[in-house]
Amino acid sequence: MVIKLPNLPLGIPSNLDKYFFNRKKELSQIDTFLSGFKNNVANQLLVTGRRGVGKSFLLMKLKMELPPNVLSAYLDLSKIHGMQKGKITEEHVMHSLFEVMLESLKDKGSLRKIYNLKESLLKRLSPKTYDFKGAGNLLGIPIPKVDDNYEKLSSLVMEFPQKVVDDNRKNIDGFVIIIDEFQLIGEFENPEAFFWLVRSFTQHQDNVTYIFTGSTSATSEIVEKINGAHGAFGGRMIQLPVEPFSEEDTYEYLKEMIPEIKFTPQGLKRFYKCTGGYPSYINSFCNTMSSGTVYDEEMIIETFYNKLDQIAIMWVAIWSTLSDYEKEIIEILMEAEALKWNDLVSQVDYSNKTLLKYTNRLKNKGILSHVNKKYSINDIMLRSWLKNFKEKEGYYPP
Ligand SMILES: Nc1ncnc2c1ncn2[C@@H]1O[C@H](COP(=O)(O)OP(=O)(O)OP(=O)(O)O)[C@@H](O)[C@H]1O
Ligand SMILES: [Mg+2]
Repeated sequence: MVIKLPNLPLGIPSNLDKYFFNRKKELSQIDTFLSGFKNNVANQLLVTGRRGVGKSFLLMKLKMELPPNVLSAYLDLSKIHGMQKGKITEEHVMHSLFEVMLESLKDKGSLRKIYNLKESLLKRLSPKTYDFKGAGNLLGIPIPKVDDNYEKLSSLVMEFPQKVVDDNRKNIDGFVIIIDEFQLIGEFENPEAFFWLVRSFTQHQDNVTYIFTGSTSATSEIVEKINGAHGAFGGRMIQLPVEPFSEEDTYEYLKEMIPEIKFTPQGLKRFYKCTGGYPSYINSFCNTMSSGTVYDEEMIIETFYNKLDQIAIMWVAIWSTLSDYEKEIIEILMEAEALKWNDLVSQVDYSNKTLLKYTNRLKNKGILSHVNKKYSINDIMLRSWLKNFKEKEGYYPP
């Protein structure tokens, strides 16, 4: 017998359709929110959900399926050079936004002529050189002349999508701009200012929808800043949570994607419990299994603990990007389960201010939850991985 080893994607596959499963409800919900373009009504959306639940894949699929009369751009902030180190500025983001907006005009008939200007426009607006010499205007929006003039650069970029729609009413109804990993905006000196800026433009734009999404919890500081009662959008953004696959969905998914892996009914149930229905864990778990066996409950448990490094690979990668402060806070909370602020402060030997900075960072990253005034680590896979590592090695991963 030939033993087949499954090979499901751990990132977002380039062949979206081959691996994309279901999410019909979410796609149709978002379509409904976008359907106002025809009547000049634009909604602003905030897509939330835990790490690895499938937000990015969902929005890429959405983008792919938009009708030809809706333009779309996708910007992953973590892909902007330097973003991970938290040194990125608003200017970089505006510049990258402009780049993806221009890129979206590539295969759009007569809009191609604007796309053709992309390289020269971007060069002139480069945050490095800020050489706005010989600036003119584009679709009637003035191109900034002055060095490091963020205000003018942002007007150009923020007015651009509505202007494109207005100038092409016959065949274009709307422009969708997806901003992924938006929690990284929390690393700006003034995240509120950025959100207020976006809000100040979108409130006068009837054909532009921004979809913000990222790895953050619905209760994080950054969500508060963008859409909380005192946040820039003040609750006017439509918040759409993405949930893990249901038990039935998980079974369907397995049957469709890897029919070669066999389970007993109890094994299947345990598999669902171990992965929580998170597609990222389903995929990484499946990749440790093989087709020559029928997995019962015990084998699933055994495989889970033996292959935890591979199954929790997403967290292994994230762990390596955390600062020592962040790791220490997580380790304290692993030992204590949940702690109030004062108890947390008493366990570290640095200032309240430093602790606040790093707990907020962990909250923005969707790692730390703050419920009923208590801090805790809420991701079961992260917890399992750390606990298991500690048990095996005697210390937490370095
Ligand atoms: N609907 C789906 N069908 C099949 N596979 C999926 C689906 N959604 C997500 N996946 C798989 O799950 C993994 C995680 O998905 P994705 O990167 O979209 O999650 P995310 O919510 O954006 O996570 P993060 O918060 O870390 O950015 C990917 O490997 C992807 O291939
Ligand atoms: Mg994502």
